[in-house]
Amino acid sequence: MPAARVVFAEDDRSAVADAVVEILADGMLTLGPRTERFETAFASVHEVPHAIAVNSGTAALEIALRIAGVADREVVVPANTFYATAAAVLHTGGRPVFADVEAATFALSAATVEAALTPATAAVLLVHIGGLITPEVDAIRQLCDDRGIPLIEDAAHAHGCTYDGRFAGSFGLAGAFSFYATKVTTSGEGGMLVTSSDRLRDEARVYRDQGKGSFNANHHVREGYSWRLSEVHAAIGEIHLRRLKEFIETRREVADRYTAALADLPGLVPLVEPPGCRSNFYKYVVLLPEGVDRARFKRETAERFGVRLPGEVYDLPLHHQPVLAEYADGPLPVAEDICARHICLPVHSDMRDDEVDQVLTALSAVHTDLIG
Ligand SMILES: Cc1ncc(COP(=O)(O)O)c(C=O)c1O
Repeated sequence: MPAARVVFAEDDRSAVADAVVEILADGMLTLGPRTERFETAFASVHEVPHAIAVNSGTAALEIALRIAGVADREVVVPANTFYATAAAVLHTGGRPVFADVEAATFALSAATVEAALTPATAAVLLVHIGGLITPEVDAIRQLCDDRGIPLIEDAAHAHGCTYDGRFAGSFGLAGAFSFYATKVTTSGEGGMLVTSSDRLRDEARVYRDQGKGSFNANHHVREGYSWRLSEVHAAIGEIHLRRLKEFIETRREVADRYTAALADLPGLVPLVEPPGCRSNFYKYVVLLPEGVDRARFKRETAERFGVRLPGEVYDLPLHHQPVLAEYADGPLPVAEDICARHICLPVHSDMRDDEVDQVLTALSAVHTDLIG
């Protein structure tokens, strides 16, 4: 059982191959009709007015932060996120301020954001870890509104996820999605910025194409960069996106089976959806009891049962990452604890029942040996 599996059905592979032939034949290789189609489809799926395609999730974050004007100011970032969340802040000339999170959601709460705010705060970056949108999202947004600062969502994990019927990407000024290869839907590499702001849409289009005031003019009005998505990647992304609904259904069925089985394995505590949340289960997260050797747990499921557990989200908090040491400011105990103590179970968008059985057999046996 692989830790991750990229699922492109035969039909989809043929559709991509046809699209590549068409793109090469008509010679429109970037910022063409495929990009527009991908943007329109993504915006529609997420019920947001605008989507702007770029070549990575990191680019989407950086564009949102540039438009928010965070240079020389602080941006609140959860300690347990991917390096790129903080790197996007650094690239804009801002300073990441790491905040603690809640164990029940792996996300910021209004209280942890409040503890990290200073007069220099320019924005808050909320990350929907594993596809779970915290029910604190409205309180966090309110806090941001009260301070007059934007909330930006790092929705890299959260394709198609909702809280209270509202989609990831619709809670803040902007939401940044990633189409990195392992994400729930992928374009190979790619990203998408979503927003309901017309101004932000227009600015984002300028930023992604070297800050040019218009496509055909050599006239640079912003410090943009080469963040365009190629038409080939847009075609892959749009074709894969058509599967999002069925992928999420399959992933949720897998998650339901895991949650039911874990009820009989005391000490293994899954991250469950709080009321109102609908996750895509990009990650299925389980907390191990304190003192259990995670590396050994993973080794045993792999070596004895052929079940390779996926990577954690994330095993080392950002304030402990060597390259970010200068931004670390004291302990963040919840983030440190959950980073050290969780595992993720494999969830594939085409996972079969017998594969779920195989994971559960491994879990149960290793649970008996290591937890008892
Ligand atoms: C939480 C988070 N933020 C940002 C990113 C960056 O996305 P990308 O790799 O597409 O630049 C990722 C993806 O890998 C991510 O998981």
